[in-house]
Amino acid sequence: GTWHLALGTWHLALGTWHLMYTSSMSPFRNRRILLGVSGSIAAYKSADLASGLRQAGAQVDVILTAAARQFVTPLTFQSVTGRPAFTDEDLWGEAGHVLHIGLAEGADLMVVAPATANTLARLAHGLADNLLAVSALANRAPLLLAPAMDGGMWDHPATRKNVEILGDRGALFVGPESGHLASGQQAVGRMAEPDTILGAIRMALGAGGPLVGVHVVVTAGGTQEAIDPVRRITNRSSGKQGFALAQAALDLGAKVTLIAAPTGLSAPYGVRREDVTSAAEMLAAVRESIRQADALVMAAAVADFRPAKLATDKLKKGDGVPQIELEPTPDILATIRSEKGEGHNLSVVAGFAAESQDLIPNAQAKLDSKGLDLIVANDILAPDAGFGVDSNRVTLLYADGRQEALPLLGKDEVAARVMAAVAELLER
Ligand code: C5P
Repeated sequence: GTWHLALGTWHLALGTWHLMYTSSMSPFRNRRILLGVSGSIAAYKSADLASGLRQAGAQVDVILTAAARQFVTPLTFQSVTGRPAFTDEDLWGEAGHVLHIGLAEGADLMVVAPATANTLARLAHGLADNLLAVSALANRAPLLLAPAMDGGMWDHPATRKNVEILGDRGALFVGPESGHLASGQQAVGRMAEPDTILGAIRMALGAGGPLVGVHVVVTAGGTQEAIDPVRRITNRSSGKQGFALAQAALDLGAKVTLIAAPTGLSAPYGVRREDVTSAAEMLAAVRESIRQADALVMAAAVADFRPAKLATDKLKKGDGVPQIELEPTPDILATIRSEKGEGHNLSVVAGFAAESQDLIPNAQAKLDSKGLDLIVANDILAPDAGFGVDSNRVTLLYADGRQEALPLLGKDEVAARVMAAVAELLER
């Protein structure tokens, strides 16, 4: 009975720790975003953006221009941010003469979404005739702009020049995208979707991280090896862990190349993505991208064998049961290890060991034989870890003999821990 109770308490403690760990991991957590909303029909989408930011843990202060209020209300934003939303009336209100300073102070990022042609002009020329503009002047954090306007206005020389001025001053842009506009036109001018803007904000928040100036190459997904024009040998890798690693590297400020076998996942905003199918294609892509890289994290489940011959025509049922002869694929990690100093100068190489038995000894053997700095040992038979699911249970094994068993975590948290380990190894 006592033993049970103790075990229960221990479980509880672990659960709490896990929760704390989860919430402190979000790159949005406790970050202050100043969100300016100007007058475009796209303003209604900014409510989604503000809501997404808050759900991710950010503190969002919203400023609406007079024109924005024609499309949405301060209440819309107050409802999703849980904080007052400000308008020009507040500029002239009781705390008026210091409001913009207070809003700008301590902001980690100022975002203007949608940014109309008029607001871009105001910001480019340092005007201070509304609360949004005066707050932008007081702001010292990075500025991210999500333009929205009709195609002709975006193309106008005045707007082009304003965008150039803002870009030269260090402002970041997300969008505008091409597509249907309120005028009925199909052109460039649509505000980027809220999810895309969230990605751009995440990238901007990571830009001051410990991996600034570092290029990380990540591989993800399961390769496919063709049997004939329609059939392939593949594996159950979902690519989720690899894509999460790419995001985690971005969160630390790295430049990231993601070499992806087929997954159906969309890449995090800001990565350079390269799609490949087979192990041979992945090897070629890895070789090319590591020329200028500092770290390689091989999370992909690369096929170990492939059909020795590719049938040019679809195999016919009538021809009987086919005998498919297999041959080994190139081992990417082994190959690039032998090319160190010639094709690349990677400082850190990390691999994964997906095992169904003797996890740690097998992972240790791979760490040694592939000459890795770090291997992530992954028990793929546990129901809550490995292929397809969103959680993972891994142990990190280092070349210097250190071992670190992590509890059951979300794949994004595992990714953050692995990238923190890579960053630490890079620092040495
Ligand atoms: O030897 P095994 O396939 O179990 O090793 C797994 C690790 O090696 C993973 O990091 C995987 O991406 C990598 N690998 C590779 N080339 C292969 C097979 C696996 O680089 N052909």
